[in-house]
Amino acid sequence: MEKKMPREMTGAELKSMLKSSINFKSLGGMKCEELTLPEEDKQWWRDAKIGMFIHWGLYSILGRGEWARFNEKIPKEEYEALADEFIPEDFSMDEWTEIARSFGANYAVMVTRHHDGFALWNSEGSYEHFDSGHRGSHRDFVQEYVDACRKAGLKVGLYYSPMDWRFPGYFDPKGLPENAALMKKQCYDQVEELCSRFNPDILWYDGGWLAHKGSDTSSAWFWEPVKLNKMARSYNPKLLINPRSGWEGDFYCDEGSHEIKGKIIPVPWEKNMCVCSGCSWGWMADDPVSDFDWLIRMMVNVVCRGGNWLVNIGPDRNGKISDEIKNRMREVGDWLRTYGESVYCTQAGPFEPVDDVFGSTYHGNKVYVHVLDTKAFADQVLPKLENEIMDAALFDGRQVEVMETEDGYRFVLPETEAAPDTIVVLTMKNPVEKMKDAQIYFTGKE
Ligand code: GLC
Repeated sequence: MEKKMPREMTGAELKSMLKSSINFKSLGGMKCEELTLPEEDKQWWRDAKIGMFIHWGLYSILGRGEWARFNEKIPKEEYEALADEFIPEDFSMDEWTEIARSFGANYAVMVTRHHDGFALWNSEGSYEHFDSGHRGSHRDFVQEYVDACRKAGLKVGLYYSPMDWRFPGYFDPKGLPENAALMKKQCYDQVEELCSRFNPDILWYDGGWLAHKGSDTSSAWFWEPVKLNKMARSYNPKLLINPRSGWEGDFYCDEGSHEIKGKIIPVPWEKNMCVCSGCSWGWMADDPVSDFDWLIRMMVNVVCRGGNWLVNIGPDRNGKISDEIKNRMREVGDWLRTYGESVYCTQAGPFEPVDDVFGSTYHGNKVYVHVLDTKAFADQVLPKLENEIMDAALFDGRQVEVMETEDGYRFVLPETEAAPDTIVVLTMKNPVEKMKDAQIYFTGKE
């Protein structure tokens, strides 16, 4: 049988199709059929929905963002001396995984090496042994993290930046090809160490560009991401890989704290953002923690458009996470412990969301209508479904009146207290038919 090829779509077409605020990174990655995972191998991740992201490294000592070394032009010797000071006290990764659990996360992604080049494991492949196994604490934090995740039942994601500011060849790959080749060798060696030693479930790249310009995909000629990822997959054929190495990847990434609007996005995607202001991904003193209602609405907007939600925390130099962050993470988790069946293991739909008013998710014969604005929702007519609505109620059991008109349904909610998300649970006669992912290849061209 002839295989159907994904339809090609430019960034402009995507935007106009979805009328969406989504801003996918790293479009136009190299294609490789051999690397394409079937939908069923991504299902656990889509069901997992919620993840916790962790940025922690030498920059957590400075507290001025993970880009401090580059932005402030800190001399090599001065910055690298921080490696000997990176000795967290009274620290155990179990506290992080407890926070991830309390937040309702099913997976975690930890930075194992950011653009500054410092590796958080005992890395033989690290250029000049710039890693926590050989400097400072002499600890293997990636091993500790992986052990803690497995113990807590979290799937393991590892973030890795191919590029490294320590190499002059990064800034001038064509003029200094030998030095650039050393950086590439480090990348291959370290990705191999990460995959062979820790067997991650997710490999999360960031920083596949070169010479400080272009995108993660424009430097594929240099990194040869297909070769790199075939090597990674040789250790785990079901490894999930994000698109930021220059290969198209298994899912799309939207990064930052901007709101998510527009239609359902019929491909696997993940929003990653900070629980704090987003000025820095690494620890920063007094970084304000986002408002609870705003976070819940963000999550609902993501999930009702088919995305996963990966939320970042920045532990301090001792690995401590502030009480404000801990409390907020737990509050969101408490919400999920009550309403999680409307989030986990669901799909977006069957109703298209209306920005700031409502969105929907479904699982089996339940449809969850997430109402963000009860007043505006009162006037909404939701399109008819072929499936019959047998019952409509709030989570607390109170009935919702369903008025069927010629064009669709209107719902009359009982008086409710102000809430970031009021959920109407519809029990349908039959299971809602699952929508398949669209087979689209985003070219990245405008
Ligand atoms: C951006 C930032 C980087 C951060 C990443 C997280 O690429 O430059 O510092 O690690 O976002 O997605």
